Amino acid sequence: MTTQTATPVVARTRDELAEARAALTAGDVAVVMTMGALHHGHAQLIKQARARAEHVIVTIFLNPLQFGPREDLSRYPRTFDDDMEICTREGVDIVFAPTPDVVYPEGDPGVRISAGPLGAVLEGQARPGHFDGVLTVVGKLLHLTGASSAYFGQKDAQQLLLIRRMVRDLDFPVDVVSVPTVREEDGLAMSSRNTYLTASDREVALCLSQALKAGADAAAEGPSAIRRAARSVLVKEPLALIDYLVLVHPTTLEDVPEWYRGEALLAVAGRVGTTRLIDNMPVRVGPGGGALQVFSEHAGRHEAPVE
Ligand SMILES: Nc1ncnc2c1ncn2[C@@H]1O[C@H](COP(=O)(O)OP(=O)(O)OP(=O)(O)O)[C@@H](O)[C@H]1O
Ligand SMILES: [Mg+2]
Repeated sequence: MTTQTATPVVARTRDELAEARAALTAGDVAVVMTMGALHHGHAQLIKQARARAEHVIVTIFLNPLQFGPREDLSRYPRTFDDDMEICTREGVDIVFAPTPDVVYPEGDPGVRISAGPLGAVLEGQARPGHFDGVLTVVGKLLHLTGASSAYFGQKDAQQLLLIRRMVRDLDFPVDVVSVPTVREEDGLAMSSRNTYLTASDREVALCLSQALKAGADAAAEGPSAIRRAARSVLVKEPLALIDYLVLVHPTTLEDVPEWYRGEALLAVAGRVGTTRLIDNMPVRVGPGGGALQVFSEHAGRHEAPVE
């Protein structure tokens, strides 16, 4: 693939996007959807997209539909100039950065995509309506960008699952590709909201990834051993207010029973300081088990990290 260093075209309106999109004629178009405040996790999504598609569109949009009334959208970090630098470095063709009135010209949309029962558990229980808001904007951005593939991070495992389900259940002509979670050296999953963490919060937050690792290390012994090992790390950190720690089936999100062997999702969510954090690890449960990068159903669709 050729290295591209030109600044991406910035599209703010639907017309600007349509015009820039029409100029991408050389081959496949991939999309990476973000809320901005880009970090190495986003960069890895873009690299994976660039490795397989001729063109890449990055969307930067803070979607009001997926924020609850008590979640403060206005404090979300906005770092557009830095985001552009990353997009330029990664060879992005178009950055679509609309305001809410561009995406929702009639205001709050009456019609939304329903995430269904899988959208009501775990993150959906903590954030009612969140996944309907996510799927609605993802569906719209797929239409507006006309992308044939879309890249999402494993960090947001439930979101990824629901997007796969939407694409399948509603026949979107799009290939969904998952990218393994990119972590800081000490294990913390990269996330735009990590910037909210104070230095001491940051120390406390480490217990999430450490718990997942401890769980994965016990994977050979079965579900209760995994849960116990993970929980024993979390209980040592009372300043992390854990919302859930679960070991669930990767596609039904139901707790796996003790006899279960095979792939499962070990997921955790909690509050540290004022910040809600999530993290997860795909694991293989049973003899020879342990942590996985992504679920094997999708393993063929993704390659080693691109540097
Ligand atoms: N550490 C990471 N590794 C891999 N992918 C990631 C990582 N963090 C985010 N992503 C992916 O980047 C895409 C855009 O996510 P988003 O812009 O919400 O970033 P974020 O870091 O999750 O921000 P926030 O913490 O506010 O949700 C999603 O597909 C998400 O899964
Ligand atoms: Mg996110």
